[in-house]
Amino acid sequence: MSKRPRVDPSSFASAPKRQYGAGGGYGEQQGYSEERSSAQRVADHYSARSNQTLEERESSPIIHLKKLNNWIKSVLIQLYARPGHCVLDLACGKGGDLIKWDKAKVGYYVGVDIAEGSIKDCMTRYNGDTDQQRRKKFSFPARLLCTDCYEARLDEYLYEDAPFDICSCQFALHYSWSTEARARQALANVSALLRPGGIFIGTMPDANVIIKRLRESEGLEFGNSVYWISFGEEYAEKKFPASRPFGIKYKFHLEDAVDCPEWVVPFHLFKLLAEEYDLELVLTKNFHEFVHEYLQKPEFTELIRRLGALGDGRQDQSTLSQDEWEVSYLYLAFVLRKRGQPSTQQRANNTNKGKMFLTEGDIEFLGI
Ligand SMILES: C[S@@+](CC[C@H](N)C(=O)[O-])C[C@H]1O[C@@H](n2cnc3c(N)ncnc32)[C@H](O)[C@@H]1O
Repeated sequence: MSKRPRVDPSSFASAPKRQYGAGGGYGEQQGYSEERSSAQRVADHYSARSNQTLEERESSPIIHLKKLNNWIKSVLIQLYARPGHCVLDLACGKGGDLIKWDKAKVGYYVGVDIAEGSIKDCMTRYNGDTDQQRRKKFSFPARLLCTDCYEARLDEYLYEDAPFDICSCQFALHYSWSTEARARQALANVSALLRPGGIFIGTMPDANVIIKRLRESEGLEFGNSVYWISFGEEYAEKKFPASRPFGIKYKFHLEDAVDCPEWVVPFHLFKLLAEEYDLELVLTKNFHEFVHEYLQKPEFTELIRRLGALGDGRQDQSTLSQDEWEVSYLYLAFVLRKRGQPSTQQRANNTNKGKMFLTEGDIEFLGI
């Protein structure tokens, strides 16, 4: 595997604290509907992606990358989830992490996603009746919501379930950086719903790497055999002033996975914004660094072998291609903690809305 290249820390000039300016926002009606339609485009894209059969999944050109991503999410969950924890999974998609939460023996799960097709697939997977996955039932009750979690006031809907011990947002937080209002609502939701000392884990694109790659490329596009990223002409100078950190849109295509608009999240500004919502940075690591570090730990080496991301170390010699490894360099993992001391009091039974079997009628569609 390649050594982790240096990341250019000057990709973004640093911004004065608490001054995020003309990045959009919902003040103006036209910007508002534009944002709605961007969010809808993302939702339509994910809704349209059907559940793959095991054979289809195994023949994916990015199967090892998918397995590596699953390993990274599993490591994060194993590091921070504890038996009995209440979990809020923002942008839960088709419920690809349900098994990971089950292995961590969590006590309650709330999943939220904007894409109706995905949340229905999540329900099917939770009920344990997908073709590929005739498995024992999950051991925790669940509740599923379909809404835009960067626009809805989730605390108003989930007040009976709060506080949560752990919140997760995997490969999705960057969809909130289309405007300052959405980025703030995402963090406000997490902060309002987590208990003091509660943990927020996630994965998202690493803006430093994306901007570095853009600047190294001749034009406004770069990529390899499995992905491409394309910026619009408005970024011809490849400059990204810190005064306008929101709404920096690019198109992302990843074979057999993603094909929709995404937004750059300058991580040092994300960290500052999160602090305003009492969320303190515990850890951030580019995926390459993450892999190198956690592969040293025997329990996680064994897990990656079982998942087969790098082959199984025996007969299966197949491994991540160089192009897949390059894609993984585009991402980072982060962990934030909600300020305050955890309560020593026994938690009240706040899982009253969850069920052990969900029907479509149980999925809650929230208007905004
Ligand atoms: C790459 S998928 C990741 C799904 C899941 N977290 C996982 O790791 O398997 C991104 C997910 O974000 C969801 N998403 C995007 N924008 C959203 C929004 N505004 N509110 C809720 N979900 C959103 C999509 O519908 C999609 O399911």
